Amino acid sequence: MEHTYDFGLVGLGVMGRNFILNVADNGFTALGNDLDPQKVQALIEEGGNTERVNAVVEVSAFAKALSSPRKIMMLVPAGKVVDIVIESLLPHLDKGDILIDGGNSFFTDTDRREAYLAEKGIHFFGAGVSGGAEGARKGPSIMPGGSKAGYAAVQPIFEAVAAKFEGEPCVAYLGPKSAGNYVKMVHNGIEYGLMQLTSEVYDVLKKAGNLSNNELHHTYKQWNAGRLQSFLVEITSEIFAEKDNLGNADLIDQIQDKAKQKGTGKWTSQNAMDLGIPVPSIDIAVSMREISALKDERTIADSLYDRPEIAQMDKEKLIDLTEKAFYFSYIVTYAQGLHQLADASREYGYNLNIAEIAKIWRAGCIIRAKLLADITKAFEADTVLPNLLLSPSFISKVQGSVSAARELVAFGALNGIPLPGISNSLTYFDAYTSTRLPLNLIQAQRDYFGSHTYERLDREGVFHTEWKLKN
Ligand code: 6PG
Repeated sequence: MEHTYDFGLVGLGVMGRNFILNVADNGFTALGNDLDPQKVQALIEEGGNTERVNAVVEVSAFAKALSSPRKIMMLVPAGKVVDIVIESLLPHLDKGDILIDGGNSFFTDTDRREAYLAEKGIHFFGAGVSGGAEGARKGPSIMPGGSKAGYAAVQPIFEAVAAKFEGEPCVAYLGPKSAGNYVKMVHNGIEYGLMQLTSEVYDVLKKAGNLSNNELHHTYKQWNAGRLQSFLVEITSEIFAEKDNLGNADLIDQIQDKAKQKGTGKWTSQNAMDLGIPVPSIDIAVSMREISALKDERTIADSLYDRPEIAQMDKEKLIDLTEKAFYFSYIVTYAQGLHQLADASREYGYNLNIAEIAKIWRAGCIIRAKLLADITKAFEADTVLPNLLLSPSFISKVQGSVSAARELVAFGALNGIPLPGISNSLTYFDAYTSTRLPLNLIQAQRDYFGSHTYERLDREGVFHTEWKLKN
């Protein structure tokens, strides 16, 4: 192979193939690599012009055909595979080469790999890539962190392939070390939260308003034309219109109600717990996928308990109420994820710019939404805003929708319709906006049974009481 290529990509699954074709479409020459000869062949055929996009099975031939410094991106499953690919590439790399992990790697793995590769003179960084297969092909949102010098070398390529929002590329250098993977992890946590909300809304509209799939299609479509405009609402509208090609029914009604997960939502929740930052709208989304997986137990339990008969609500009123509760919960879910990012930034030294993150989420990624333009402005106006709920520009949006969330959550509780994402968002809001919470009692109990001490409202210091049992 005489020709040298601008960009290399390891892992020619759907995401990898689409990403490399996107690179080639944007005027760069690109070379793919995969151990599977069929995937290599598929890319060569789809690329159509081997001067522009080509692929090889052998790692040595791959490395040899890349221009210096090599710019190689891995799009392989997170975990051990990433380490295996790194080891297979290493003997063929030179100092100054750039290696990018575009998968959903756990952030501490990225830190470990960056330190390991830095010793060998390789610029390594993690870059979250969001947007699924279509995004990879037509323009994803890209979240790079780590080696700044490494990023500078691929910046023109990433800016060309990324989705554009009003002409601005949805990619930006986010911070040192694993900042890119961390931001992508929280993106996915928010994604879990928003997907959970979307499913609850579907449930209540169906059960309390008896909306048909066609009506659901139109309702989501209408919402997507308004303030709830987002990728997830848009695809949900389309999902309700899809017919089953294995039968006559609507496809949605034939799909098993057990949601799978690959772990990024769970990692977001786990890490939020480690940081001490509450993200209950994300936590419950993970728990609901877990509950959904317990189908057999759910089926038995269903037969053991009576459920309330579901009261029917006027369709128009229900749609209006649901839209407001949905909007409220969308805001609160983003608020929690961004709060986590702000705290993680301090804890891990990422120096994140939250406005910049919201900006690159405005197009290309799974959680893209109209709301992100407002969120960007809120964090541009106050770069150290701890929580979106404290932004003056969000008060009227939240104030105008919270009472609908209260009404819907109460309705769900009375009628046995689980709305945990909306209700956790509401509870979070009610707690976060309370000057006084009853946790003074918890402090008293801790001190009572374990002499754990407490602080007082009226004076500084740490106190302990010899509590007297009075029977
Ligand atoms: C994206 C998605 C992508 C992937 C999810 C799915 O931004 O393009 O988040 O990364 O589809 O990780 O995650 P689960 O399988 O855990 O639902």
